[in-house]
Amino acid sequence: MAEANPSSTPRKIILDCDPGHGDAVALLLAHGSERIELLAVTTVAGNQSLERVSANALAVGTVAGITGVPFAAGCARPLVRTMETADDIHGQSGMDGPAQPEPTITLDGRHAVDLLIETIMDHEPGEITLVPTGAMTNIALAVRKEPRIVPRVREVVLMGGGYHTGNWSAVAEFNIRIDPEAAHIVFNESWPVVMVGLDLTHQALATDEVVARIGAIGTLPARFVGELMEFLRTAYRQAQGFDAPPVHDPCAVAYVIDPSVVRTVKAPVDIELQGGLTLGMTVTDFRTPAAADCHTSVAVELDHRRFWDLVIQALENIGEVEPAETPSRACAR
Ligand code: BDR
Ligand code: CA
Repeated sequence: MAEANPSSTPRKIILDCDPGHGDAVALLLAHGSERIELLAVTTVAGNQSLERVSANALAVGTVAGITGVPFAAGCARPLVRTMETADDIHGQSGMDGPAQPEPTITLDGRHAVDLLIETIMDHEPGEITLVPTGAMTNIALAVRKEPRIVPRVREVVLMGGGYHTGNWSAVAEFNIRIDPEAAHIVFNESWPVVMVGLDLTHQALATDEVVARIGAIGTLPARFVGELMEFLRTAYRQAQGFDAPPVHDPCAVAYVIDPSVVRTVKAPVDIELQGGLTLGMTVTDFRTPAAADCHTSVAVELDHRRFWDLVIQALENIGEVEPAETPSRACAR
């Protein structure tokens, strides 16, 4: 499938993530899309410890054959709260399922917060889009350390939150709930924020048909994704009763690639920091049409077919087709 507007300039992004099955797919989508220029990958503790998610990011970068893009580790815990991880969904490694390759890339020596600031300040205003797919800790600290990044960022397209349900509590989503103070900072800065929350990502199901399409690609990155999806399906069945697993994080990247794949609505959003039952809720006000200066919008509807077309096209763009009999865990040499 040809991607939308192939002639337009690729969008420059920084992916701030905690791989994570969905984060891994987000990274592969960003790398494989002709419409994205991946400037940096930064990691933050979340699905697992900072050490594990950083190792996972390097493993995915290796599977994808990414070179020349800095990967930097960031914050090892939330701003205020005690660290929580999502072992029930992502396992002990944070990315259980496929065997992981020996990384051929290494971490940049800089802290993620410094890499974020340097990269944004080194580019023209409006050039860079931030795509956080984990807790917002690194982004919040970057804002506090260097507030001049805010008007320079084109928009923040984040996976997190949800206006009608939660997954870490009845009303709060994991990425927001584990570091609500960081999310509060990010949502209350003046930059445009697009909340790609559970309302949208629960539509991004890796159905049997999708998994079969990925399986037919026959490259190492596609096999890697197939094994990630296999693990995720079992985990989501057991933990949350889904038949097919929602693959949250690539939805944010897909929106950057082609906003017409995700319908959004402008509405004020703020983060609950006080409530005993509602801590980390992304409180969204749909009561009246949003004011002209409203800088937040929420994702409401996904074009499932075109979303997975983007992922599959990106996977087809990277990696060599391997003979069918090659063991699927060949990357663990
Ligand atoms: C989010 O939480 C994490 O477990 C996933 O990686 C995703 O970013 C979904 O709530
Ligand atoms: Ca994530």
